Amino acid sequence: MTSQQYIPEAFLFGGDYNPEQWDPDTWREDIELMKRAGVNTVTLGVFSWARLEPREGEYETGWLDEVISLLDEAGIGFFLATPTASPPPWFTLAYPDAMPVRADGVRLTHGSRDTYAISAPAYRNACCRIAGMLARRYGVHRRLRGWHVHNEYGTLDFGPHAAAAFRSWLRNRYGTLDALNVAWCTSFWSQRYSDWEEIFPPVATQYLHNPALSIDFRRFSSDEMLAAFTEQKREIQRSSSAPVTTNFMLPTWNHLEQWSWAEEQDVVSIDHYLDSPGPDGDAHVAYGADLTRSWADGSWLLMEQNATGIFADGRTYTKTPSRMIRNSLGYIARGSQSSLFFQWRASVGGAEQWHGALVPHAGGESGAFATAERLGEILSSIAEAVEPPRDSPIVDAAVGIVWHADGWWALETPHLPNDAVTYADEVRATHRSFWRAGIPTDFVRPGGEVNRYRMLVVPCLYVTSDGVADWLREFAARGGTVIVTYLSGIADENLTIATGGYPGRLRELIGARAEEIHVPEPGEVVPLASGRTGSQWRERLVLEGAESTDEYSAGPLSGLPALTEHRLGEGRVVYVSTHLDQESRDRFLAEQSALAGLSETVPGAAERRVEAIRRRGRDADYVFLLHHGTDPVKFTGDGRDLLSAVNLADGLTLAAGDVAVVRVRGGEEVRVVP
Ligand code: GLA
Repeated sequence: MTSQQYIPEAFLFGGDYNPEQWDPDTWREDIELMKRAGVNTVTLGVFSWARLEPREGEYETGWLDEVISLLDEAGIGFFLATPTASPPPWFTLAYPDAMPVRADGVRLTHGSRDTYAISAPAYRNACCRIAGMLARRYGVHRRLRGWHVHNEYGTLDFGPHAAAAFRSWLRNRYGTLDALNVAWCTSFWSQRYSDWEEIFPPVATQYLHNPALSIDFRRFSSDEMLAAFTEQKREIQRSSSAPVTTNFMLPTWNHLEQWSWAEEQDVVSIDHYLDSPGPDGDAHVAYGADLTRSWADGSWLLMEQNATGIFADGRTYTKTPSRMIRNSLGYIARGSQSSLFFQWRASVGGAEQWHGALVPHAGGESGAFATAERLGEILSSIAEAVEPPRDSPIVDAAVGIVWHADGWWALETPHLPNDAVTYADEVRATHRSFWRAGIPTDFVRPGGEVNRYRMLVVPCLYVTSDGVADWLREFAARGGTVIVTYLSGIADENLTIATGGYPGRLRELIGARAEEIHVPEPGEVVPLASGRTGSQWRERLVLEGAESTDEYSAGPLSGLPALTEHRLGEGRVVYVSTHLDQESRDRFLAEQSALAGLSETVPGAAERRVEAIRRRGRDADYVFLLHHGTDPVKFTGDGRDLLSAVNLADGLTLAAGDVAVVRVRGGEEVRVVP
């Protein structure tokens, strides 16, 4: 695993800048506004392919030269994107075979963006050509901060190029067809393959696909996109030594296996958009940020967020200025070196003309722009925090939530006992509980480095590879707490179910086995003897060394164990056989945290709805206080708030919606005044 530190001279502030949508007078106004707000970084060219290469092999870069020299004069740095997420219209006509085919067999054409067949040689060559051209032209520019390759890789292709590449990926993975036939259990439904050419991506078929084929296709697609990324990266590195990244995106779909992708990034970056206008949006910020910091194993970049809007369920809600600032600092508190936005100036035309921006349609004389200016001031007052610590994690977490894209993809294969259970819901609910308790969390790769944790939580790890059970057992035996949920340990990497009772591969670890699954009806509450409630799932457990710590109190399993605890060496393994509802989960994980000796970053803050995060720096630590609640909260202790210049010893009162960044040194502490 890489341990990444991206250390700019100050936090990066700015966003996607699309000057091709504007005339040169507006460019000049943009630069003036950027200077006013303290913008120090823009990302250029994300969707500029048609402007840069209007006809195949003919490049027009004069406009970009001019924009870059305006930025240069103003001292503003830039990421340069390769525009390969949006091939121009001429490309479709020249290479119709390089358009993606959907699972239903429809071949797409241009008209939107992200329309490319990732395995098509014509597409891959065209990408490398334009990436190489940009690198040769701008690769040593003094204001170049890095390369932003492509944009949010994520178009799956099911067409002939993908089929051919999938077959060679499978040959590489399985070696022989016999091995593949065994791994995929092709004896079911007469699927035995006798030639590689008989294998197709999971395109429209009469009923269900083989789940083993489906998950391998997801893995292949991630690897194929990664190969396309690394090709561009290599091409760029022939002419430029600036750091290379691509911006991940993690909404309700997930097409990348981020642990392997992170290893190829010079700095991991992500785009993050809230999916709820309510308080859960704040928990979502922490979730996105903790995941990204964990993938990076260090500092990272927030490449895009929305300055003014929250899009959910077909509506764009207004993001308040307070939330814009709190959320921006939320990412930084959790290791981001930037607060960058999509986009600088709101478009007047095109598909995203209603998307928020730092400069809204109302222009620079607006409340939204005043918020951008305020954020610029805040970031410059906390600039010293940008230097990460030398030898310790940027955020110290004692809890690791085990996370892998395989879990996400496995739960998306249809016809599980309950298709309503999603990996993202279970993982987010778990993270949310720790967030609500003010306890910092990391995410951990199965089999990864866990010496710094006291607790590992394993939500729905359906695919459990060889060695993972031993890895968890050793962690527990050394004194750790392991919390495993239902739908873990079920299958190996081929989605072959381990027999003898669930959770198959983790049965010995938890000291119990489930003989049957009793899926409740939609909306049915599963009550437990302790007063906790669950839903979605329940299991008939037989104890094999563990003891019951809570029972089902109604329904078909009434009186039988629902939660168990197994002592292993110095530690404990707790098993949860239902999907705990959020309030029950919050209480349960808070109790488990207390038992494991975990504590809140600033005791008492979470209860007052102040999010407190300690970001470690080179010479000091910084306690970020983000007040999401409604009543003023007073803090005392040592240290100094870099925003208000108040010393904590004099008392610092945070009004609802307000923020503080307290520099503390050595053993200095921040405390809530009760
Ligand atoms: C992502 C993309 C942007 C834009 C926004 C919309 O961040 O990179 O181009 O589409 O989503 O939220």
